[in-house]
Amino acid sequence: VPLAGVIGMPIAHSRSPRLHGHWLRRYGIAGHYIPMPVMPEHLAEVLRALPRLGFVGVNVTIPHKEAVLALADTVTDRAALIGAANTLIFRPDGKIHADNTDGYGFVANLRQNAPDWWPKAGPAALIGAGGAARAVVASLLDSGVGELRITNRTRIRSEQIKSEFGARLVVYDWAQAGNMLEGAATVVNATSLGMDGKQPLRLPLDALSPDALVTDLVYAPLVTPFLRDAQARGCRIVDGLGMLLHQAAPGFECWFGRRPEVDDDLRRAVL
Ligand code: ATR
Repeated sequence: VPLAGVIGMPIAHSRSPRLHGHWLRRYGIAGHYIPMPVMPEHLAEVLRALPRLGFVGVNVTIPHKEAVLALADTVTDRAALIGAANTLIFRPDGKIHADNTDGYGFVANLRQNAPDWWPKAGPAALIGAGGAARAVVASLLDSGVGELRITNRTRIRSEQIKSEFGARLVVYDWAQAGNMLEGAATVVNATSLGMDGKQPLRLPLDALSPDALVTDLVYAPLVTPFLRDAQARGCRIVDGLGMLLHQAAPGFECWFGRRPEVDDDLRRAVL
């Protein structure tokens, strides 16, 4: 029976066990997906032991997403570019393969829920420059976005991303964030603002076109104050839950041999 799971610290709030558990039941696959709290000082030892216990791979969450890169034998280009991995595959020969499917999940969510979304329609505007934002940058550039505007409270983090990802990025100051919405076709919140218990993201939306697609990586609440404001301006909105669902699919397929579906049943199971 193949085993998979998720390693992180803390891990109790991870939705991945519900997500993969739903797919395992739905497809009648004999397998298990287990949440595992792992301390940073035990990470290397745990990764060596898991394949010997019958694990075919794991998802990786905070605080291990960066550290696992150094422990993997092979790393996909996108994981290397993002500087973090969320999916590990344990090969039969004992080698550890690291990938990052967050950017894939981000784009797959938009394609599923806004089928007419066209990344090349105009500039994209990204708010935030943390780990999640890096995956969004990689996937938007890969989708052919011509200009990617980025702003972050701590400006140096956006400049760091620009220096790594290149000329298509344009850094905006946090105080001028509203200006970057001018003409933007795709607008993304990748900060934690708007999450339950945090203050909302409030930008002046005067420059935001109703033709823009607006999405948020925060999915609790499903419709953040930012999405609500954008919707009130007539924008198409896509919530962030689908990114979580879609980023899980490549790992599941690799470990359990079946490409899983992302649908409303799954959304209900995970919420
Ligand atoms: P993740 O990996 O989820 O992206 P992170 O690396 O901690 O997590 O990044 C969190 C993002 O939310 C960052 O863009 C952060 O801005 P800073 O780089 O300035 O910290 C942003 N963020 C969090 N709290 C914020 C706040 N109160 N105001 C503005 N931005 C905030």
